[in-house]
Amino acid sequence: MDLLLGRGLAMAAFLLADSFPSRLGAAEAATVDGITAIYNFGDSISDTGNLIRERPSGLLQYIAKLPYGMDIHGPTGRCSDGYLMIDFVAKDLGLPLLNPYLDRSADFTHGVNFAVAGATALSTAALTKKGITIALTNSSLDVQLKWFKDFMASTTNSSQEIREKLASSLVMLGEIGGNDYNYAFLHTWPTAGGHGLDNLARMAKSIALATELVPQVVQSVANAAKELLDMGAVRLVIPGNFPIGCVPSYLATANITDPLAFDADGCLAPLNAFAELHNAALRDAVAALRRAYPRAVIAYADYFAAYLRVLRGARALGFDAARARTACCGAGAYNFEAGRMCGAPGAGACADPGAFVSWDGVHMTQHAYGVMAEMLYRGGLTDPAPIKWP
Ligand SMILES: *[C@@H]1O[C@H](CO)[C@@H](O)[C@H](O)[C@H]1NC(C)=O
Ligand SMILES: *[C@@H]1O[C@H](CO)[C@@H](O)[C@H](O)[C@H]1NC(C)=O
Ligand SMILES: *[C@@H]1O[C@H](CO)[C@@H](O)[C@H](O)[C@H]1NC(C)=O
Repeated sequence: MDLLLGRGLAMAAFLLADSFPSRLGAAEAATVDGITAIYNFGDSISDTGNLIRERPSGLLQYIAKLPYGMDIHGPTGRCSDGYLMIDFVAKDLGLPLLNPYLDRSADFTHGVNFAVAGATALSTAALTKKGITIALTNSSLDVQLKWFKDFMASTTNSSQEIREKLASSLVMLGEIGGNDYNYAFLHTWPTAGGHGLDNLARMAKSIALATELVPQVVQSVANAAKELLDMGAVRLVIPGNFPIGCVPSYLATANITDPLAFDADGCLAPLNAFAELHNAALRDAVAALRRAYPRAVIAYADYFAAYLRVLRGARALGFDAARARTACCGAGAYNFEAGRMCGAPGAGACADPGAFVSWDGVHMTQHAYGVMAEMLYRGGLTDPAPIKWP
């Protein structure tokens, strides 16, 4: 990472306090529900600065510069115009924003963010064996879990101390796994010039390939959950996948116009059915974990339902309903083109990101993340509730 970027980041961190949306107000003085730390695992949905300390490439090569971070004084490595769900959760808990693990000089008193944009639930090696080689980072879930263990080993003297630390912690395991599927889709995705029916058939083929991955992806999340619970985690949140058929990057690359492929929400029905398949398998795994660890709160965060609520209530929630499936920043149909991703030459950001659900076609805007966090953590879409609010 170059020096200029480093200085930009330090500046951004310095300015975070005053730039956070005022709805949240100042950090509360006391802890909420005894939670003093957050440990987060995941991908670009919750990365607060790890990938930019590796080497952003491919679709993620632009995240280290504007317009990423345009609403929070510049880029921080967050894949949005501003803050993410994890930031809203930290702020609501009265905790400082979660620092990225790869920022070696950061303060980790109140937790660590291990999430890396582009990360997968399966290791790069496991995906390569399946013929899937589009990895933007090697920091998959197993690597993030190793970082967690290293961190705990270096900040405690015994497994009992780790248990004590985790007793007052919130552990967020995901969303992770979405990229395993993204990379699988990219392998077989409809290419330009295809006839309408061909595009539908190719989408079906992509879904079939991704479906083969579901048991392994879910098992990998469940295995990580077991390790965390065995180490002493008592509050674990496991989020499901988004309704990917409503997401601009999928809508644009699928390039399907046949109205029969769309559901009443204007989303590609087969892709949403795939996301629900993953979510059903994940919920089964969560149910099994609850039986095995009856004393822990193991919550399922329903990103799928929350996203649909955002789409259906778009206007009332302050979004431009007509552009709820269009990215704010990008180019082309749905304002998403893989070759002209937000930040690339020829791609531009809208003037009013707050009116959009999608920021760059793949990730959501700060406004949408704030609404989602509210629905999930106060509004009951994470079940059972992992946090008792005052
Ligand atoms: C991941 O690891 C492989 C094998 O060590 C390496 O060739 C590749 O460059 C790495 N990829 C990234 C994005 O770091
Ligand atoms: C671990 O033990 C050392 C030596 O007894 C002590 O100085 C240190 O404070 C301990 N660390 C923690 C995190 O308790
Ligand atoms: C979308 O598909 C049509 C034919 O169905 C094709 O003419 C067009 O080039 C495709 N567009 C993209 C961006 O792939």
